[in-house]
Amino acid sequence: MHPMLNTAVKAARRAGNLIHRSSDRIDHLTVTKKSHADFVSEVDRAAEQTIIQTLLEAYPDHAILAEESGNHGESEFVWIIDPLDGTTNFLHGFPQFSVSIALQHKGIITQAVVYDPIKNELFTATRGRGAFLNDKRLRVTKRIHLADSLIGTGFPYTKFEHMDAYIGIFKDLMQRTSGLRRPGSAALDLAWMAAGRYDGFFETGLHIWDIAAGTLLITEAGGMVSDLQGGDTFLKNCHICAGNPNIHPLLLEVIKPHLTPALKAK
Ligand code: IPD
Ligand code: CA
Ligand code: CA
Repeated sequence: MHPMLNTAVKAARRAGNLIHRSSDRIDHLTVTKKSHADFVSEVDRAAEQTIIQTLLEAYPDHAILAEESGNHGESEFVWIIDPLDGTTNFLHGFPQFSVSIALQHKGIITQAVVYDPIKNELFTATRGRGAFLNDKRLRVTKRIHLADSLIGTGFPYTKFEHMDAYIGIFKDLMQRTSGLRRPGSAALDLAWMAAGRYDGFFETGLHIWDIAAGTLLITEAGGMVSDLQGGDTFLKNCHICAGNPNIHPLLLEVIKPHLTPALKAK
C-alpha cells in the first residue's frame, strides 16, 4: 500500500473507532445546528481532530481542508476530510455513515479512503492502482439498461434552490429504473457505486469533502464521474453524476432536460 494511503487508513480507522464507540451514547452528545437541518456533534469535531493529528504527524508540511475546521496550511498536497459523513443518520442511530479522506496533489485526487465503522468496510484507492474493499479489488457493474439499474441519490435537505429540478429528475428516474435509494452518506454512496452495489448515482449541492475520495474510488473501479452535463467540474460545483460506463450517459440524458443555469454553473 502507498505510504500516504496507509497514513490515511490509520487516520480513518482511528476516527471510525471513535465514532463507533460514541454511537451507543447518542442521546448524551452535544449537538449544534449549523443551519437548517444541518447538525454537527462533538463526535464530528473529535473525529476530525484525530484525523488531522494523524495526518500531520506523518506529513507536517501538508495542508488540510476539513469540513468542521476549514483550511490549515498551504502545500501542493491537500488532505480533504469529511470526519463523519451522514451526521443525521448517526444522530438517529441509523447505521449508515462514514469517514472520508482524500489526498489532492496539485489539484488531482491521488489517494482515497472511505471507511464504514459499523460494517467495518474499508474502501481505498490510489490513482492508477485500482480500488479495493478491504482486500478485494472493486469493479463497477456491467448493466446496460437503465430499466435494470439501481440508482443511488441524495435529496436536497438544507438548501432548496435546486429542489424543483431535482424532483423532475427523480420523477423521471422513478419510472425508468428498477429503483432509487437514498441511504444518507454521499461518500459511502460513491464507495458503494465503486463496489457494484449501484449502477449509477447523482446528487446536487454537495461539498468537496463529500465526494473527493468517492470519485477516485469510482474511476479506479472502472466507472465514470462527471458534473450533471458530463463535464469535469464536479469537484468545483459539487453537482455529480456517476455510473458504470453504460449507465452514466443514460443518466445524463435523463438529467439534461431538467438542468437550470445554476446546475450548469462551472
Ligand atoms: C451529507 C451526506 C448526505 C448528503 C448531504 C451531505 P454530512 O454530509 O453526505 O448524504 O445528501 O448533502 O451534506 O453533512 O452528514 O457530512
Ligand atoms: Ca458530508
Ligand atoms: Ca460531515
